[in-house]
Amino acid sequence: MSAITSLINRQIRLASRPHGLPTAENWESTTQPVTEPGPGGVLVKTLYLSLDPAMRGWMNEGKSYIPPVEIGAVMRAGGVGRVIASQNPAFAVGDFVNAGLDVQEYCLIPQEQVKRNGMFKIDPRLGLTTWLNVLGMPGMTGYFGLMEVGLPRAGETVVVSGAAGAVGQTVGQIAKIKGCRVVGIAGGKAKCDWVVNELGFDACIDYKGSDVRAGLKEHCPGGVDIYFDNVGGEILDLVLARINRSARIIICGAISQYNNTTPVKGPANYLSLLVNRARMEGIVVFDYADRYHLGVAEMAGYLKAGTMKSREDVVQGFENFPATLLKLFNGENFGKLVLQVADA
Ligand SMILES: NC(=O)c1ccc[n+]([C@@H]2O[C@H](COP(=O)([O-])OP(=O)(O)OC[C@H]3O[C@@H](n4cnc5c(N)ncnc54)[C@H](OP(=O)(O)O)[C@@H]3O)[C@@H](O)[C@H]2O)c1
Repeated sequence: MSAITSLINRQIRLASRPHGLPTAENWESTTQPVTEPGPGGVLVKTLYLSLDPAMRGWMNEGKSYIPPVEIGAVMRAGGVGRVIASQNPAFAVGDFVNAGLDVQEYCLIPQEQVKRNGMFKIDPRLGLTTWLNVLGMPGMTGYFGLMEVGLPRAGETVVVSGAAGAVGQTVGQIAKIKGCRVVGIAGGKAKCDWVVNELGFDACIDYKGSDVRAGLKEHCPGGVDIYFDNVGGEILDLVLARINRSARIIICGAISQYNNTTPVKGPANYLSLLVNRARMEGIVVFDYADRYHLGVAEMAGYLKAGTMKSREDVVQGFENFPATLLKLFNGENFGKLVLQVADA
């Protein structure tokens, strides 16, 4: 038996679809022997998994921008890992990679899936978890969402909710770099202080401890030109009430609605779009996949120059996946939520 085939792969599978917040019953732990990759294939050892609000949507039945995770399937997840066996000339043993690894300790990626899994080599000198944050999917969401839908111009006022989270921190920092006035919205004083004092936002409204309507009035005296919406619900309505003519609203997510057991709450103030000749547009990051390298190059430049920061909240232990995921929905994560599965 080779060193590879003596390994056991722990996996977490979707056992049932949640109603409201996911519970322990929605998950099943399984094990499988690890196998050698076939021709053109690669075997990756998972080091870090990206825990994303979108996972909640993938657990639901129904049509979306990506098929749901099937009952009994290993839960879908992006991650960073290390190649431990390769039959593919593009990847060598020891390479660090970013790929769709799913919630498991080892991921065997057959040749035909290497491209589909979005597998690419990463430079570990920029920090492994940075590749799941500013240089990864959330960072690309913030970058392309803001730049291509938000169309920021220097001097404009940008409001971003979920400001201390993965997408939010990137959006606010890029908007500052592009010369905008940036107002964050986040839960709690510690997060608000961090985005202002460490990331350089102009202000941040604590939606848990203060009145958002009053905060928007105080910190956006000239109105809102761009709103990058990560949360939906009531906060979206409050920002809609303050938008300027030709404002752009980027619908990136609506985390306040993901665990609803009642229908999603849409914006009551939508006629503000009409009055202000404004536009609200949804984005899906995967649509920009063929240009990620351009976003990554720009973000990497800012990180190296010290004009951008990347904060990750790293939780240890593969078995802690189900409980850790819930942190996203009560705001316990501070920065991009990452699960460390193994040491690099
Ligand atoms: N469209 C796309 O392609 C795409 C791609 C990636 C992410 N997204 C979306 O972007 C949003 C942010 O994702 P992320 O990965 O950056 O997550 P994140 O912001 O790092 O983490 C989620 C944060 O949401 C906040 N939150 C939770 N419940 C809330 C509620 N009821 N009201 C207001 N805020 C709440 C919490 O922060 P506080 O402590 O501040 O409450 C929590 O820390 C999500 O909606 C996600 O689905 C979309």
